[in-house]
Amino acid sequence: MSVRSLGLSLLSLVSCIKLSAASAQLASNGLSVTLNDVYYFISPFSSGKVLVKPTAFPTVPSVFGFKPVTVVQGAVAEEALPSLFANWSKIDDVFQPAFAQAIFLAGSITCLTKRGTAARDLSTILSIDDTSIPSGPYFLEMATGFLHPVYRLYEDFAGAFTEPLIPTPGGKFQVLSAQIPGSAALTVGVPSRLYFTKTAAKPLAGVRLGVKDIYRLAGMKGSNGNRAWYSIYPASESTGPAVQALIDAGAQVIGLQKTSQFANGESATADWVDYHMPFNPRGDGYQDASSSSSGGGASVASYEWLDIAIGSDTGGSIRNPAAVQGLFGNRPSHGLASLDKVMPLSPTLDTPGFLVRDPYLWDTANAVLYGDNYKSLANTQVKYPNKIRTIYFPSDPTGPESSAADAIMTSFVNALATFVNGTIEPLELDTAWDASTPAEAAGIPLGDFLNTTYATLITKEQIALVRDPFYADYAAIHDGRHPFVNPVPLVRWGYGDTLSEGDYEAAKREKAIFMDWFNSVILPTVDQPGQCSSGFVLYPSIQGDQIPRNRYGGEPGVPFGFNPGRISVFSEAPDSTFPLGQVSSLSAITNHDELFPVGVDIMVAKGCDGLLVKLAQDLVKAGILTAPLTGGTVTGGDILMKRRAEEKGIKKVRYVEYYY
Ligand SMILES: *[C@@H]1O[C@H](CO)[C@@H](O)[C@H](O)[C@H]1NC(C)=O
Ligand SMILES: *[C@@H]1O[C@H](CO)[C@@H](O)[C@H](O)[C@H]1NC(C)=O
Ligand SMILES: *[C@@H]1O[C@H](CO)[C@@H](O)[C@H](O)[C@H]1NC(C)=O
Repeated sequence: MSVRSLGLSLLSLVSCIKLSAASAQLASNGLSVTLNDVYYFISPFSSGKVLVKPTAFPTVPSVFGFKPVTVVQGAVAEEALPSLFANWSKIDDVFQPAFAQAIFLAGSITCLTKRGTAARDLSTILSIDDTSIPSGPYFLEMATGFLHPVYRLYEDFAGAFTEPLIPTPGGKFQVLSAQIPGSAALTVGVPSRLYFTKTAAKPLAGVRLGVKDIYRLAGMKGSNGNRAWYSIYPASESTGPAVQALIDAGAQVIGLQKTSQFANGESATADWVDYHMPFNPRGDGYQDASSSSSGGGASVASYEWLDIAIGSDTGGSIRNPAAVQGLFGNRPSHGLASLDKVMPLSPTLDTPGFLVRDPYLWDTANAVLYGDNYKSLANTQVKYPNKIRTIYFPSDPTGPESSAADAIMTSFVNALATFVNGTIEPLELDTAWDASTPAEAAGIPLGDFLNTTYATLITKEQIALVRDPFYADYAAIHDGRHPFVNPVPLVRWGYGDTLSEGDYEAAKREKAIFMDWFNSVILPTVDQPGQCSSGFVLYPSIQGDQIPRNRYGGEPGVPFGFNPGRISVFSEAPDSTFPLGQVSSLSAITNHDELFPVGVDIMVAKGCDGLLVKLAQDLVKAGILTAPLTGGTVTGGDILMKRRAEEKGIKKVRYVEYYY
């Protein structure tokens, strides 16, 4: 190489660097800090601006030019500030007194001239004109006057989330860029509850929501529980209408949550190859969290800082995680909300619903999600049906074979009967079917008639809508390769490949025939003022069973057969899980007695969804049920895996507005 040519190439390199430097894009993804040993995140997006000298609040510490401050809107007298802050500390886990060393107070300020007020002694108070900036804690960028919202950071020790997120100003989301210490756990951020005020238009203002990672959110990639899926598809342009309705009502989405792969039923541990099953906090902490909305179930049972999770139920995917984690959970009547931009398992059977501790929040969330298709009965006088029928309930609850769980089930159904002034009658579905078999199924026992219906519908529909396009897209990018898929969806899809279009049409007919029969013979609606359902149908959802996650299961199979959990799947009627209590048994993991949940599923006639939630509220009010708490048991208590030292600083805060 000649000197001349070397000189030339150096020159061109220099000019090249200049060009690329001119187009550099530098953006903040937010900042992670600690204030008095509490982990916080400073949003990169501001809520507004105040006039402030960069030298203000000299005694307040700063990091990277940010200082903790507090905004107080409304006509609050300076003398009342200490009482206000004490109140805030009770209702919000994000605010702490250290934010109140520098206060922006709306209205006229007298404090700086008046000596001796309590607030003056502790703080420097400036005025704020912009009433659009909500009250609460902020980090103030001293150089610019921008107020940035505060998130408190928590460890996702239950492994329930796939990606934590924060909202962006354009109505989208981006991944939360923060990590605090955790045992291979993600970090989740929650905004101060003080920023949000419940109104008629925003009944979910500030409610913290987890979203099953099959619902697409604007700006976020999705996984459906599959890593290859996450890798090949871009972030979604928009949020689907179901979650958008919750957001429009004020709900704060804090993260996407784990699902078993493609929302198929999977067991811990071998089935969950791509992602690790979340940890069920109840009992010994090593019980199967069930599927597929297990991220929602494990998190709502574990975290006081999370209020509710939206999941989906095709064949039990909300009811089962709700049951094993001791929560309320609902499979709604079919067709109450759009599932646009939600990964389908089977559009014929898919339903969106919630996993939740508080039956009042449950009602509000249902009313938002299902809109005009849901009738909240919260403040109305209802006439409960008095016909209670039970499937697989203990027949001899005081006999020698009976268990502690039997006693809980029996005492609950007796209390329910007293409460609704009703009668209890066992329901033998097979016998009832034999006595009134529809003509199209003449001579065929129920179990045979519906044996392959579910497996056929979910596999044929998911193959066409999810697998085939996914395989084609993956192959196009990766030289004809197949993506990795977990054993359960693979086995199920393999079964679907053996079926004909005729089999699929037959399955749709079987479902329709059963639905018409069940909804006319067993559980019809009642069309009278104040009444909706002709009865209740109950079946056990969990009876204190231990299903440890370290147990090796058999080879994955196809979900053939019929069980009570499939009734609502085909009949399209609402079916909700109610936590009843817990029973003690020896855990082989802790070598100690632990408490394991007992629960029941209650069905009413199609379209009577509000009745089940009203029943939950009334039974809690009457002391027949207890709303579950987060913790190692449904009545609270330590979660073994929760590191006590770090959790010490966490205030026990409930979203009080929704409590009764
Ligand atoms: C704090 O709460 C108490 C009890 O609800 C109330 O009486 C008081 O007015 C509140 N203080 C302020 C400043 O809002
Ligand atoms: C309970 O039901 C019975 C029979 O259906 C009826 O005679 C009675 O009046 C009811 N009692 C109440 C308190 O509603
Ligand atoms: C259900 O169908 C599967 C697959 O065809 C079959 O192996 C099984 O024996 C059937 N069970 C009943 C109860 O019919």
